[in-house]
Amino acid sequence: MINKDIGKILISEGELDAIVTRLAAEIDRDYAGDDKRLVLLCILKGSIVFMGDLMKKLTVPLEIDCMRVSSYGAGTSSSGNVNIIMDIMRSDLRDCDLLIVEDIIDSGRTLSYLTKYLFNKGAKSVKTCTLLDKPSRRVVEFTPDYSGIEIPDEFVVGYGLDYDEKYRALPFVGVLKPEVYSGEHE
Ligand code: IMP
Ligand code: MG
Repeated sequence: MINKDIGKILISEGELDAIVTRLAAEIDRDYAGDDKRLVLLCILKGSIVFMGDLMKKLTVPLEIDCMRVSSYGAGTSSSGNVNIIMDIMRSDLRDCDLLIVEDIIDSGRTLSYLTKYLFNKGAKSVKTCTLLDKPSRRVVEFTPDYSGIEIPDEFVVGYGLDYDEKYRALPFVGVLKPEVYSGEHE
């Protein structure tokens, strides 16, 4: 057994690789050209594995930065607030074409807040790339510029995503057995 807490594998390692390859090709195509200065912004900690794989597949010149926000408490349901725990490290965003790299869009609050925040901070452009999207959970309307795959309303872990800081290192995206979080996912 891969992990006793995982009910099923939703997206295998091979499928993840194909998704990331496709996203990298789309981004490469859109950010080619001397007028672009691509800065990948990793939203810690959930996007760390996705961002690492994505940047290795990109061929356009790029820089990286990171930021840490929280909209979740310790469990599986959103608190509704977005808090900046660690701001983007660079202060001058004037020439930067920011691409926010996120693990998953759920309510839409995080990316809708961050897009406005970074634009107000002076970025030349702000786009979003998510690996996973749960459209059925939207509270705030939000459509990412690049999207890996839509998934049903199930709490998933692995490939960077956690439950209570666990399971981030699993190489696949799996569904957690409901008894592990005792049904607190709303
Ligand atoms: P949003 O602001 O509700 O769109 O939430 C986005 C954040 O919620 C993500 O960056 C994740 O940290 C977290 N999240 C949402 N759904 C899941 C899930 O199924 N597994 C793990 N984390 C999740
Ligand atoms: Mg999380």
